[in-house]
Parts: sequence; C-alpha cells; structure tokens
Amino acid sequence: MHSRRGDPSRRNNAPRSPTSPADAELGDLEAEKDEPRKRQRWSVRTWILSLAACLLLLFLFSIKVEFGFGYVFAQCVFKAYHPLDEYRKSGDIYPSVSAILEKAPKGWGSVDFPTDKASLHNYTQIYDVLLAPYQHTARNVLEIGIKKGGSMKLWREFFDASAFIYGMDIDPSCPTFTRDAHMKSIILDTNVRKDVEAAVGDLRFDIIVDDGCHTNTCIWNSWKALFPSLEPHGVYLVEDYPKFRVESSWADGKIAMDFHG
Ligand SMILES: C[S@@+](CC[C@H](N)C(=O)[O-])C[C@H]1O[C@@H](n2cnc3c(N)ncnc32)[C@H](O)[C@@H]1O
Repeated sequence: MHSRRGDPSRRNNAPRSPTSPADAELGDLEAEKDEPRKRQRWSVRTWILSLAACLLLLFLFSIKVEFGFGYVFAQCVFKAYHPLDEYRKSGDIYPSVSAILEKAPKGWGSVDFPTDKASLHNYTQIYDVLLAPYQHTARNVLEIGIKKGGSMKLWREFFDASAFIYGMDIDPSCPTFTRDAHMKSIILDTNVRKDVEAAVGDLRFDIIVDDGCHTNTCIWNSWKALFPSLEPHGVYLVEDYPKFRVESSWADGKIAMDFHG
C-alpha cells in the first residue's frame, strides 16, 4: 500500500496545478529538489566545454612544437595547399639572396618562400655578403632543417642551375621536391653520425647551413658528423644559437662562424 504522499515517483512525475497554498508550497519544494539535478546538467556541459577548450589550446600549442600532432597536421595542410613538391627552379637570375625575397611575402605563411630567414631574422642581409663569392661556384649546398622547404627553394633560386641543393630533416612530412633533380631531401636525425655519414658518402659541400635543432648538443653532433664533408674552401654556418662558439682547432683553417639575428 502506498499513500500518494509516500510515493516519490508519483510526487515528481504527476502534473498538478497548485490549487491551494499547501499545494503551491509542495510545488516549490519539488522545484527546489529538481534544482541540484539542473545544476549538475549544466556543470557537465561546462566541463565538456572546458575540456574541448583545453584540447584546442593543446592542439594550437602543439603546432608550435616540432613533431607535435598539431605541427604534423599543420605541415600536411600546408603541403596540401602549397604544392612545394611540384617546385622547379625558375629561369630568373638574382643579384643577391635578399633580392629573391624582396617581392615575395615573408615568413612561414609565404606561399613561395616559407622561411623565417628574412622575417624573424635578418640572415638574408648577412648571406648577401657571405654567399656572394659562392653564387656561381658552389656545387653542393646543404641546409640542415627543411621544415616547409622555403630555404631550399631560396638556395635553388640563388645559386647556379648546376648546383645541387640538399636538405636534411628529421621530419618525414617535409617537402621532397621530387620534380627537381637538383634538390634532394634527406630524412634523418643529424645527431646520429653514422646515419649522416651513410647518407653523405663521398659528397662534399661548399656551404652547410645548420638551421636544424638549435640545441648545443645537437649542433655539436651535427657539426662532428658534417664538418668532414665540407670542402676546404667551404663555409659552415650555424643559425639561431648565440652561445655556440666554434673552436679554431675544429675549423682546421676552414671558415666557421655562428650568429644570431
Ligand atoms: C627552423 S626549422 C628549419 C627552417 C628552414 N631551414 C627554413 O629556413 O625554411 C628547423 C627544422 O629542423 C628540423 N630538426 C629538428 N631537429 C632535427 C634533427 N635532430 N635532425 C634533423 N632535423 C631536425 C625540424 O624538423 C625543423 O623542420
């Protein structure tokens, strides 16, 4: 036997119109009981929204972190809209490195030359001076760090058509430039000397630009692996690491320097 008052399900579900003050009071009590449940529903929603916001922030942050999910995703989207793998050297002749970037928008968002060499840094002005003597003589140029391929394209445009432009990067989603036989992307970790040596073989570089991992240990490991492959007249340039100093005994008479822009 259940009385009407004793049956909670009936009390909650049965619609009733407050006909007396007592009924109205009972209605208020029931509404109050429902209140925590409503609040709980909102807080779950808020929780989900917060989680989504955190995931979005994490994703945006990981775009900045090399090899993070967002980074690789952004690389793939970039490649889909910028067919860098289709690139081939233009017939244009440029008087300097800066002249190539003069008309193109600068920075990572640039369609033609996605590189930070002229946007975040002023490296192109330095290269105008340092690389001028090599423009028509360099045969093999290596850039450590391909990323979106802007610097490899830059070198391909600057040096003679006969020059070969090599890029090394740990990230397999980097552009491969398969259409241009004078551009080669090598996917490896430049920290690993035996991999670098196996990839380089007898190749000798006139210019090596280290714009790769930017940590002291990695710069040093890359140096040990690649410096023996530098031509005696060559130049080895390290970008973005102000504390790195090349001992003269390592350089063995070849030009070596570092700088930070
Ligand atoms: C600053 S970006 C290179 C930008 C490019 N040189 C340009 O100017 O357009 C650095 C690149 O170094 C690569 N990298 C980081 N650590 C590396 C490593 N240990 N070996 C090879 N590449 C590495 C990253 O994948 C990234 O693409």
